[in-house]
Amino acid sequence: MRTSNNVAERSCDVAVIGAGAAGLMAAIFAGREGASVLAIDGAPKIGAKILISGGGRCNLTHDEVRAADFHGNRNAIGKVLRSFDVAPTLEFFASIGITVEREEGGKLFPTSNRARDVIDALLAAAAEVGVEVVSGQKVLSCQRSDDGFLINETIRARRLVMATGGRSVPKTGSDGSGYALVRGLGHSVGETFAALVPLVTPAGHWTRSLSGTSIETELFVRSENGRVLHRERGSLLFTHFGLSGPVVLDISRHWIAEQPAALVASFLPDESFESLEASLLAEAKRNPHATLAGVLRRRVPDRLAVQLGSETRLGRLSREDRRVLIRGIVEQEIPIVQDRGFDYAEVTAGGVPLDEIELRTMASRRCDGLYLCGEILDVDGKIGGYNFQWA
Ligand code: FDA
Repeated sequence: MRTSNNVAERSCDVAVIGAGAAGLMAAIFAGREGASVLAIDGAPKIGAKILISGGGRCNLTHDEVRAADFHGNRNAIGKVLRSFDVAPTLEFFASIGITVEREEGGKLFPTSNRARDVIDALLAAAAEVGVEVVSGQKVLSCQRSDDGFLINETIRARRLVMATGGRSVPKTGSDGSGYALVRGLGHSVGETFAALVPLVTPAGHWTRSLSGTSIETELFVRSENGRVLHRERGSLLFTHFGLSGPVVLDISRHWIAEQPAALVASFLPDESFESLEASLLAEAKRNPHATLAGVLRRRVPDRLAVQLGSETRLGRLSREDRRVLIRGIVEQEIPIVQDRGFDYAEVTAGGVPLDEIELRTMASRRCDGLYLCGEILDVDGKIGGYNFQWA
């Protein structure tokens, strides 16, 4: 593989700015068409984000990927997904030596469970078709010239692929600097905010004392007038700062986008207020010694049962107290002071609007010879491999 960390004056058919998931794919496919390709990345090491993805295992894609798994212009997203969906993605990875295993729920991981193998295979595939990958070379300027583009005043390319990602985990190199570059080439960039991001509860809040506990939960984003705007169900993890886990990450972008709005949890997602009240009343009749904490212990982790329950016998609780407790189980409002920000967000919501892109080819509608792909665009997916599929 030809990699270097400096490029003096030179020219190529295609320059790819950003050698992350989207940029490496674009570079490989351009190289396979016979183009001379230079992929330039600002980070000292290529693939830092792939390496930390999926807890170091890289959740490559999902066995079923639909536009509904993404936020953004779903009509447009569907068109792009259909042009390269899960089947050709898996075929491509198999062709470069990466087979996958399906996990419960449909997530697909490399059989080796090693993100490192994914990066190595992509870099080898790039090298095979002569792609030159340059690390440690941040692109600071990029102008249209008579015959294409002039990059950092020294590199000439006939065509340009902008794959600089979003702003999440900037230490991997995705620091949002690509937005200024595409603006300079005539694109707009919609407001960006963290998505798939953990949420912080106030210091001293009970959620923090449960750090390490996880439970199947339904979360709601509720407007100030009490309307449920979004709901997600899945595993919630209490942490030393507040809330994380798949269900929290999935709902975080909605909580952020809908401010002012509240986050509400049901720790018994199969129960409604009414069904839980009826079963507690029946339990009190059956067993005069039953307490709410005791009943909860059978269904939620012990520490949560202690937090949400009461050691008073069910039959002795006043109607009002019983109802307050039930509400705390199926409609617990959890105060959130902030999200954990881009340092911890898995993706960036917002970006370049899809209506500025020719969806069949990902060519810019604003600048001849420019192409955009990956997270720089206004698309963010759920947890589960969807964001790599988009990239
Ligand atoms: P990406 O951010 O990967 O790459 C952009 C590249 O551009 C970077 O290498 C950067 O250095 C470079 N760059 C930026 N500006 C530049 C400039 N001015 N000059 C030169 N280079 C520049 N998704 C998924 O589907 N499954 C998963 O398991 C996970 N797990 C996961 C874990 C964590 C911790 C994070 C942070 C994210 C994930 N994701 C994920 C999301 C997924 O990693 C993400 O959506 C894709 O990597 C986006 O790919 P892109 O290539 O578009 O951007």
